[in-house]
Amino acid sequence: MPTTFRWSRRELAGWTCSPIPTADEPLTRPSGAGHREATDRALVGCRPRSRCHQQHAARPVSKRPGRRPRRIKMPEDGGDTIDRRLPVGSERVLSLPSYVAGRSALDLCHERGITDVLELAANQNPLGASPLAQKVLQDAAHDAHLYPDGASNSLRAALGEVLGVAANAVVATGGAEQALGLLAQAFLEPGSEAVMPRPSFPVYRIATIASGATPVEVDLDGWEYDATALADAITPATRIVFAATPNNPTGTSMARADVERLLAALPEGALLVLDEAYVEYSDADHPDGIELLAQDPRIVAVRTFSKAYGLAGLRVGYLVGHPAVADLVTRVRPAFALNRLAEHAAVAALGDHAHLANTREVTARNRRLLTQALDARGLPVPASQANFVWADTGRDDDRVWERLIDHGVVVRGGRLWGHPGHLRITIGTESQTERLLHALDDAMDPA
Ligand SMILES: Cc1ncc(COP(=O)(O)O)c(C=O)c1O
Repeated sequence: MPTTFRWSRRELAGWTCSPIPTADEPLTRPSGAGHREATDRALVGCRPRSRCHQQHAARPVSKRPGRRPRRIKMPEDGGDTIDRRLPVGSERVLSLPSYVAGRSALDLCHERGITDVLELAANQNPLGASPLAQKVLQDAAHDAHLYPDGASNSLRAALGEVLGVAANAVVATGGAEQALGLLAQAFLEPGSEAVMPRPSFPVYRIATIASGATPVEVDLDGWEYDATALADAITPATRIVFAATPNNPTGTSMARADVERLLAALPEGALLVLDEAYVEYSDADHPDGIELLAQDPRIVAVRTFSKAYGLAGLRVGYLVGHPAVADLVTRVRPAFALNRLAEHAAVAALGDHAHLANTREVTARNRRLLTQALDARGLPVPASQANFVWADTGRDDDRVWERLIDHGVVVRGGRLWGHPGHLRITIGTESQTERLLHALDDAMDPA
């Protein structure tokens, strides 16, 4: 019998898989009272099929005739003791809070027998993937046995052309999330700091801690950026300032003057990372990170194909920075960060101007419609420049979120960011918006 020692259930929770099957914030965590989510990636294949809610759940694997399937017995994760030899992880990883297993919205729909689910929680494109990208995916399937081009040269060249930058300023990554993680890996270390807004995209904090650095969070001011407070938080130890513009979950953008104020406060050798995951939806006079790069080599723009291009499932993102910055990031980038099909599909999506224009038009129209409808119901939303709105239900609990589930309408609850009475609602099509509003009227009804 191996010697054992006691682990709390909470510690053990870190070894189980998350119950949340779809998440646009791949890693989120308590930050106080909230709960943590895990990546889609971590989830695929990690749950018994009978409990899997992935709409694209894998087909059963056909068994070889005459062979009994192998079953490896793992230590139970429900007990209070565990094999002492089990690796525990580095100090910095242990300092990241474990997620707390809880029921996801889709679990709840499943339990309540709701099959007609309207998913407005992950800021995905309601029009789907670009048809040109879909065609390329079908055509490229027969090449799946070939390794991709490790440098993703065709995508970098296409992006360079469209964005007006040299290809060596572009690094193609497995989603914007990976770009953020690689930036943290390349530029942060123990003793350094990263400044970031709150509430915002949780990956900034996680990537910072995982790199051994210290996150410095600065509260928004009435859901708007407070550039003075952000600038005041910058110290000689600051190596990165993260700023999502538009910001997730608020949808609010940073003004150009604010970007300039941050650059003025930024030490030499540090980076201002403008996370522009939703930039294609902006209609305001937003600062364009790529344009600003010409003035200051400390800017990095991070973008994605997950949102306006509708390729969230393929995991394609990129960053644009000074070639010296791109070179440092490339040193820590996985050799084959992008798979072959994803790269070709992204090139096709980039050229699908009609799909992008349609996406922008549908989003802008329904964002206007939803904002007005919420306003008329006394639910104010900050002016969003993204494909979602941040609505205040006027409560301090998640009852409205929970009641929406009875209607099969799944939005992102604000509890994740420490604001349980808020809802982050993805902009859908017109009919989806109507269904959402209908459900909301019922969910808000005190009766
Ligand atoms: C602000 C922000 N940045 C980055 C990402 C990550 O996007 P990707 O799917 O490309 O990893 C998201 C996803 O929701 C986001 O909201």
